[in-house]
Amino acid sequence: MMLYHPQLTDYLESLVPERPAILQEMEAHAQATDFPIVGPVVGQFLYTLARLIGARRVFELGSGFGYSTAWFALAVRENGGGEVHHVVWDETLSKQAQEFLSRLGVMPLMRFHVGEAVQTLQQVGGEYDLIFCDIDKQGYPASWQVVKQHLRVGGVALYDNMLWSGRVWDDADNSPATRGIRELTRLIAEERDFTFSLLPIRDGVLMAVKLRTGSTREP
Ligand SMILES: C[S@@+](CC[C@H](N)C(=O)[O-])C[C@H]1O[C@@H](n2cnc3c(N)ncnc32)[C@H](O)[C@@H]1O
Repeated sequence: MMLYHPQLTDYLESLVPERPAILQEMEAHAQATDFPIVGPVVGQFLYTLARLIGARRVFELGSGFGYSTAWFALAVRENGGGEVHHVVWDETLSKQAQEFLSRLGVMPLMRFHVGEAVQTLQQVGGEYDLIFCDIDKQGYPASWQVVKQHLRVGGVALYDNMLWSGRVWDDADNSPATRGIRELTRLIAEERDFTFSLLPIRDGVLMAVKLRTGSTREP
């Protein structure tokens, strides 16, 4: 289902400032290979949000060839430096990401992992300012228990594809991916230690801010 009028999509894209040549090359690569990246409008949003909260530690789950990672890396570098974790289970994509991000000049920030993303976050551990999840959608609900534990108070969790091209509200669609997105939405909506918004940009980006740790929550 087309969610937006094409003129709205074109208008929003026209407002994204010109990207570094590497990012444009990555966009062309995604188009040529039909690879699902977040695209420039969401990329610019990721960058803006990371700048807004001064993110220095970012963990990305399901990173592909590093397009969304590149936006985070640019923001973290401008925030004064830190760590950006790229995780994908496909070695070839990880190598492609390393090439692109090396040419972008952000390698000192980068930490690359090949493996299942949620397990990797558990293994690597630590606390993050921002965690972005774009793994297979049936894995979204289980990821939440891990993601929320690894956010600092005031940190932000982001999930992509939360409108799933309109399939979330299609009662006839009960595929594992659609159910995964609905279940994650329900879990986050029930959280008392988070506040969230579902932003209808591109395929829907859910943003959940950690207000407090569960143990310090007021009744
Ligand atoms: C939608 S793409 C990510 C695109 C990326 N956010 C961007 O805009 O550049 C998701 C990638 O994560 C991989 N992936 C999906 N589920 C995963 C998981 N549980 N662990 C690791 N990688 C996963 C997919 O194979 C794919 O390469």
